[in-house]
Parts: sequence; C-alpha cells; structure tokens
Amino acid sequence: MATEKTTVKKTTASTTKKTTSSGSTAKKTTKTATSAAPKTAAKKPASKPAVKQEKKKILFVASESTPFIATGGLAEVVGSLSKSLAATGNFDVRVVIPLYSDIKKEYREKFNYLGNLYVHLAWRNQYCGIFSYEKDGVTFYFIDNEFYFKRPGCYGYYDDGERFAFFSRSVLEIMPFLNFYPDVMHCHDWQAALAAIYLKTNYCFRQEYQYIRALFTIHNIEYQGWYSLDLLGDLFDIYGSYQHLVEYKNCINLMKGAIECSERFSTVSPMYANEIKTEYYSHGLDPIVKRNEFKLCGILNGIDVEGYNSALDKHLYANFTADDFSNKAICKKELQKLLGLPQKPETPIIAMVSRLVSHKGLDLVTTVIEELLQDDIQFVILGTGDAHFEGYFRNLASRYPDKLSANIVFNGDLSRKIYSGADVFLMPSKSEPCGLSQMIACRYGTIPVVRETGGLYDSIKPLVNGYTFTNYNAHDMMYVIRKAVSDYKNKEEWAKLMRRAIDSDFSWNHSAQEYAALYLDMLK
Ligand code: GLC
Repeated sequence: MATEKTTVKKTTASTTKKTTSSGSTAKKTTKTATSAAPKTAAKKPASKPAVKQEKKKILFVASESTPFIATGGLAEVVGSLSKSLAATGNFDVRVVIPLYSDIKKEYREKFNYLGNLYVHLAWRNQYCGIFSYEKDGVTFYFIDNEFYFKRPGCYGYYDDGERFAFFSRSVLEIMPFLNFYPDVMHCHDWQAALAAIYLKTNYCFRQEYQYIRALFTIHNIEYQGWYSLDLLGDLFDIYGSYQHLVEYKNCINLMKGAIECSERFSTVSPMYANEIKTEYYSHGLDPIVKRNEFKLCGILNGIDVEGYNSALDKHLYANFTADDFSNKAICKKELQKLLGLPQKPETPIIAMVSRLVSHKGLDLVTTVIEELLQDDIQFVILGTGDAHFEGYFRNLASRYPDKLSANIVFNGDLSRKIYSGADVFLMPSKSEPCGLSQMIACRYGTIPVVRETGGLYDSIKPLVNGYTFTNYNAHDMMYVIRKAVSDYKNKEEWAKLMRRAIDSDFSWNHSAQEYAALYLDMLK
C-alpha cells in the first residue's frame, strides 16, 4: 500500500510549528512527515490522472480501533477489517480516530506528528493536530484536540455531540492537508455519521470531494445520536436547506442523516439487516431503514483469528488444538482454582463474558439462574454494566460461592482464561447486531448457547457449532442449556462438537471479500 511518504503533501511552516498546546506525549517527527514527501504528491486527485491501475483508497472513520483504544466490538472490527482489506493488496486502507488520552502509551510514543490546522464548526475555530502511525499495512490517523479528547474513556460526556461533530469535520478538513481523497469513506456508527453528512451537504460542491462515495455501517442501531433541532446550525453547522436530511421526529438524528446521505449503508450481519426493518429491533428507525432498503446490506463480521488462537494464545494456562484438547482440562482446572471454585473436571462450566445490560439477555438469566444452580454446573460471569445487574451477581456469588463466580471487571486476560477454561458459553441476547464473543468462544472449543438473533443466528448453527433457541424466553433458554449440559457428558460427541466449533471459519477472509465487492460496486 502507499505509505505516508508518497501521500503526505509537502507542507510549509504550519506543519513544523505546533501552535496549541496539545502537550501530547506523542513523538514529534514533523520533519520526517513533511520533508520526506515528494513534490509530485501534490497533484490534484480530482483530475483523475492516467496512471497504472491504482489501489482503491478506503478511509475508515470511526470512534475507536484496536490496538489503540477499545471499548467494544466496534474497535475490534475497525482494527481487524482494515488489516484484512489491506492484506488483499487491492486497497490503500487508512483509518482515522480521535487521539484520546487513554490511547495506549506504548503506541502513542511512536506516533508521527504530521502537522496541524484549524477546523471551523459554526462559530468555532478549533485546533486540529494530526498524527499518524502505520500498522499491518494500514495507515492510522489520530485527530488531536485536548479540549475534546483529553479525557478518560471515549464517550459519555455532555458535549459528545460537539466532540464528534468536530471529529467528523476534521476528517474532511485533513484530506487536502494529506492530499488524500478516498474513493470510499467508510463511516462507522453515529459518532462518524456527520462525516458522511458533511460530505454530501456542506462539502458537496467542492471538486475534490465529488468523487468520494460514502458507506455507513451500523454496528448497533440503539445508539443513533439524537439531538435537539435547535443545534442544527449552531452546533452541527448544517445549513437549514439540509434540515430534512437529519430531521426525524422533530429532532436531529445523526444516524438517520447518515443513512439518507450515504450511497450505501450496511449492518454487521445479514440477519440484523433484516431485523432493523422491524419495529422490534429498530429503536424507531424502521421507516427510514425500509425507505432506504435498496442501498442496505448485511455483512457478517469476522474476528482476528490469529489473535484468538487456542494453540498460540499466551494468556492461556496451556495451549491446545482441535486435534488434541487434552490441555483444555488444564485451562479449566486452573480457572476453577483462580476463581475459587471447586476443581471438578466433570462439572461443566457455563460462562458469560458480556456487558451487564438488559439487552444481552440478562433478564432471562436472572429469571432461571437459581433453578439452574441446583444442577451440577458452575457458572462464571465477567463484565461490568448496570449497577442493578452488578449487584445482583455479586450477591448471588456470595450465596453460591461453590457454584458461581462473579467478576465485575473488564479484564482482557481473564476473559481469555474464561473462554479457554469454560465448556459452554452463554449469549442469550435480546438483540445482537453481530456479536464477537460467540465466535471467540468457538475458537477455544467452548460451545455457544445463543438466542437466534442478528449475528448469533448467522454464526451459530444448532448442533454444528453450538445450541440455539428462538424466543426470548427464560425457560426456552434453560431447556437448551440443560440439553447442552446433558450432551456434555457424552465425551466422544462433545469432542466432535468442540472440533467443529474450533474449525468454524470466523476469519475475515470471506467477509473482507464482501466488503471489497461492495466498495467496487459503489465505485461503478
Ligand atoms: C456492536 C454490536 C455487536 C457487534 C459489534 C461489532 O458492539 O453490539 O453485536 O459485534 O458492534 O460490529
């Protein structure tokens, strides 16, 4: 793929002086970033020069990406899909995210400072520093503004609307600076929705932007970016003539705006693409989804199968493969020891690694768990979330210390020890756009029990690589869990099931090809 050297425009003094204070810890290598660029890089992309077949340029716009910062599945998908697309050799893939202060220091120190500019947003004029970093063939850009992003975590602030409006506007503003105009700008979730909206409204008459196609991917339709209409001009800097694009139910709805403005929109599984056309799943957006159905598709996420590999994962107590599961027993024994559960090899461990929120199916779990705990099972739960559920599971653990372990934390190392040491993985979500945990569990030979919704439906097939139930009903779930627990006793059959689970293809190979085809189709 093209590197910084061939694409960063040679800039003047503005890039060598860092005018505000970001006090950022990132290394300043302005010189490298600016002086290395050949002068030829400054040619106008809009003139479509006649050169040999170039790689198609894809710019991901997202609020998080592994390995730099992650609060959930979105980051994993942005990090692993971009890498897989770059690996095809057909795309110049770049990703832009905010430079949060929580971005891991080990990376931050290696970032290159490219320069800065000022970004207008209504009456605001805000500093925008640009850093870059190359990883696995992908160029990552980081938007620096300490006022907006030097805060713990990524979201949950009163001014999130303004923060991501600034971020989205910066994405368009850095294009001339980098002399990089993508063929497809691929925006993820509501935080990046405004990038697609600005592209097709405020920027649509600028020549360089006219060839850029927008793809908007919905990772979760629950979070849409609702704001008061009063903020249209003053905060979001959207002209009144475009109000109809973002207006929904007398409010601004950024996800709705991105659906309207993008050439295509997608979701992270085919089933979820169907589900969001219905009132039950759409969180109010089904009329908009249906009206734009002609440009909707669903592509199942993959996972980073190299990162989740039971044969190599260093977090595990012992490694094992689909051909020889014997070390999984060590993982189980050590997990039981770690969590203070009796070390019983024959007692199946049912695990959940999940945000502790209602739509993950916790209402079903709390309804029947005490009954289930009467069986010969152990139950392990890991995650944080609603105080109500956190308290519930803590309390349960104190009442059933030999049967249930509640770990109310977010801990990547422990999650892998649980994925590898457990026997059954429970994911009874009420809705699940894709879900990655059920795929990860399979990679460790832990058999998923899932509700047939969204990506759970698309990835887990009954008795092929897991167990499923259809209705959002606690006793249906319990029936299927008990079926799994009883099948677990048949060692030979269970081993076959584990083998099929590990062998399920959850790599990006197939889905990255689907995205590739989608991009090419959009560029026709
Ligand atoms: C969101 C969805 C989850 C999906 C992930 C990545 O977190 O809730 O189902 O797997 O995005 O697309």
